Amino acid sequence: FEVEQFEHVEVDGTKYGMKIRDGIYLPNGVNNLSYSKNFKLRDDDIFLSSFPKSGTTWTNDLVWLITHNLDYERSKIENKFLWLDPGIPPNIIDDADSPRLFKNHLPLQFLPDDIQSEKIKKIYVVRNPKDMLVSTFHFYKKLVKDEFTGDFQNLIDLFEQGKTWYGPWWSHVNSFTKLPNTFIIMYEDLIKNAHKTIKSLGEFLGKNLTDSEIKFLIECTSFKKMKETEKEFKNDDRHVDKFKSDLVFFRKGEIGDWKNYFDEEMSKKVDDVVTNRLEFEVNFVYEN
Ligand code: A3P
Repeated sequence: FEVEQFEHVEVDGTKYGMKIRDGIYLPNGVNNLSYSKNFKLRDDDIFLSSFPKSGTTWTNDLVWLITHNLDYERSKIENKFLWLDPGIPPNIIDDADSPRLFKNHLPLQFLPDDIQSEKIKKIYVVRNPKDMLVSTFHFYKKLVKDEFTGDFQNLIDLFEQGKTWYGPWWSHVNSFTKLPNTFIIMYEDLIKNAHKTIKSLGEFLGKNLTDSEIKFLIECTSFKKMKETEKEFKNDDRHVDKFKSDLVFFRKGEIGDWKNYFDEEMSKKVDDVVTNRLEFEVNFVYEN
């Protein structure tokens, strides 16, 4: 498939590289949207979806391990989902063994309609949007070609207008959390109630995990352990030339860092979005 050329988009004086498709702001790395929308699903496909910086990579590792007999050594080499956003050559999708594991930040309208099927398992990751935004800010600032020229206030304004990458956060959460056969995983729950959350995730994936297996999963997906793989992540072909060398992908991994960035007015803007536009009932753990 052809890699589409990127554009620089300026919103209220803030520049960052993006593509706008169907009114949605997408990063330049997104490609081959017509294929992602139309490929044929299998009943045993599993989708991992999230708004960026919500805990996708962490959940990715958990799901991969749970569906691959907790084979940690193999996970260091093979731990890959079929990541739809950058565009995957069709033969790779067609030839992949079942159950296929797909990962996407793409909003629901860019995915095949059959994802609505009751048969297909979906996992959706949600994080307190305030911490998600702090994480996003650090990430945007480390991009090479698409560098974001704004400050944190600009990012909050773009968030409120639904113009950060992948469109309005609330639409993303509202649409995915309403799909049937969806396991919703909260980043905060993974931190605060790891054991219970991983047990339920296992049950959703058809595995009755023992206490020692859960303990093993917690250990091998700890922030510290995952940070050790950071170098590999940055050297991955898909990422070289995209990030500045001082990108820290596994940055803090905490609840509540937002308090170091938000003033009262910014905080109110995000609270208003949660109160007025989110249809998914959630009580975000705002405290440390
Ligand atoms: P911070 O920037 O707040 O540290 P995503 O994978 O969706 O891009 O999300 C990235 C965020 O998840 C980053 O947040 C990252 O540090 C955090 N994260 C990744 N792995 C983690 C882990 N094992 N434990 C806790 N947080 C983790």
